[in-house]
Amino acid sequence: MPQRIFNFSAGPAVLPVEVLEEARESLLSLGNTGIGILEHSHRGKAFVAVYEETEALCRELAGIPANYKVLFLQGGASSQFFMIPMNLLQQGATADYLVTGAWSQSAVKEAQKFGTVHISCSSEDQNFSYIPGTAEFTPGAAYAHFTSNNTIFGTQFAAPPDYTGDSLIVDASSDIFSRPIDVSRYGMIYAGAQKNLGPAGVTLVIVRDDIIERGPTTLPTMLQYRTHAKNQSMYNTPPTFGIYLMGLVFKWIKKQGGLTAMETINREKALKLYQHLDNSPVFKPTARPDSRSMMNVTFVTGNAELDDKFIKITQKAGLDGLKGHRSVGGMRASIYNAFPSAGVDALIEIMKSFEKEQAL
Ligand SMILES: Cc1ncc(COP(=O)(O)O)c(C=O)c1O
Repeated sequence: MPQRIFNFSAGPAVLPVEVLEEARESLLSLGNTGIGILEHSHRGKAFVAVYEETEALCRELAGIPANYKVLFLQGGASSQFFMIPMNLLQQGATADYLVTGAWSQSAVKEAQKFGTVHISCSSEDQNFSYIPGTAEFTPGAAYAHFTSNNTIFGTQFAAPPDYTGDSLIVDASSDIFSRPIDVSRYGMIYAGAQKNLGPAGVTLVIVRDDIIERGPTTLPTMLQYRTHAKNQSMYNTPPTFGIYLMGLVFKWIKKQGGLTAMETINREKALKLYQHLDNSPVFKPTARPDSRSMMNVTFVTGNAELDDKFIKITQKAGLDGLKGHRSVGGMRASIYNAFPSAGVDALIEIMKSFEKEQAL
């Protein structure tokens, strides 16, 4: 087998090797069932046990209260952009959106198809390089929606916004379970799995019971949260492999020490990279210091040709996925939960030799 390299991809992203090794075994036989994980019926005893264990681990890791459901849906986080307003934004009502990047903008676009959107704050004036300090909430709004980590722009809310209502919704696709989360502050938390939780194709939704019941019963059955809540995400065939793999990732997170330990490890990795960038004569981080993401570290040289040259050097050295998103340019190091600290060290070493070379 070829050697694995350091994968800085923003998503789908690196997964823990021990998770992949266990999954490899399960492809041929899940435990001693003689049937692979991809081949098990979702109604059978073996898969139901997998499902129950995945949900239980999810609840344990995040301390999810009993009045919240854990759903495993399909259609990516992008489908939540319309499913949320379809269920929660009745005609004539207003929803608040905090706009801190391209994904929040996509969520706004979808919500506008169903009701009035009030932009509570926006950092578009400076190409989304910061998290606004304040947000203006509409009294009586149906809900408030924000993106906790902006994958493309490398910014992250250090803490949830100052919102006092009971319907705060977060798109946590790129930082879910990277740090502890107080679920009781939220009406709903959702995330595509493919960055911190598992493979593409499954979307984790943690939603409070009263929110589930707000949706009109006239919506298509598959688009009502209550359908999935009542049927343990098995109204139709769920993404069985994704649920299985998420369970393995949860077990791995638990072994690392849970979300508190994950946060310590993630901060260590990110802070050493930012520290190098802050002192670099060649590279500079693009996010404002108080808004920096612990998951996606974005940086530039200030010269597109030099950026390209650096990216080519990293690729030759076995560091993949460092090219920044086209709307920001430069470089982006995505260092999610499963990204090894040794990969950050390798990147810093390459930066150091590049800096020396530039000084000549
Ligand atoms: C913050 C955020 N939200 C939403 C999405 C879209 O997710 P999906 O591709 O699962 O629809 C992404 C994808 O990168 C993301 O980073």
